[in-house]
Amino acid sequence: MSKEMPEHPFPAIAESATVRLRRLRPTDRIRFQAYRKHPSVTQFQSWPDMSKVEMDGFLWAMSQLETPLQPGKWTQIAIARPGPDTLVGDMGWHLSDSMSEVELGVTIDPMHQRKGYAEAAMRMAMAVVFSRPQVNAVICGADPRNTASLSLIRKIGFTFTHLDPSPMEEGILDEMFAMTRTTFDAH
Ligand SMILES: CC(C)(COP(=O)(O)OP(=O)(O)OC[C@H]1O[C@@H](n2cnc3c(N)ncnc32)[C@H](O)[C@@H]1OP(=O)(O)O)[C@@H](O)C(=O)NCCC(=O)NCCS
Repeated sequence: MSKEMPEHPFPAIAESATVRLRRLRPTDRIRFQAYRKHPSVTQFQSWPDMSKVEMDGFLWAMSQLETPLQPGKWTQIAIARPGPDTLVGDMGWHLSDSMSEVELGVTIDPMHQRKGYAEAAMRMAMAVVFSRPQVNAVICGADPRNTASLSLIRKIGFTFTHLDPSPMEEGILDEMFAMTRTTFDAH
């Protein structure tokens, strides 16, 4: 890392007393890699195998993103506990090419699950993305066997839209959901 470039030059993306959404950074590598390998996390989603150098490069690139919403690209965001900053999970944000739709995915370290982090992070992320006037809807999807994720999605108030072939497993249809701006504003 060069002396001229601070490791995390940008402020948090959003923050409350209990959850901070911020850019991932190279110092997250050990925790990030540990929970991303956990069987309960890999059960319904994959993460590419990366060497230490590749992972450091990826986390460095994420730390330097000026905006986490880039048309046509997935961006990975850290979910941290504020105070002495502790990584508890991460989110994927994907802005559509038309910039009207954002897909969200969330992963929480099994050590920190069932403490409300995923719900808080999703609600915070939706507030951030709907602050962009072009965004009309937030979407997300889950494997039909992923009861935790489906329960989270329904609790937040997403509406089922359709089934989509799973990118993970042939023959499985992911359940897809959406929340429109109108529904979000009414909540
Ligand atoms: C799904 C996941 C993100 C939930 O994270 P979490 O921080 O534990 O969730 P929260 O504590 O915010 O829980 C919010 C709601 O989600 C649902 N939920 C979370 N974990 C659940 C579980 N194990 N079983 C059933 N419902 C669950 C509940 O409705 C819960 O509300 P409640 O506490 O009032 O019952 C977490 O289990 C995870 O990371 N799983 C592995 C990765 C994954 O499959 N991600 C989804 C793919 S995009």
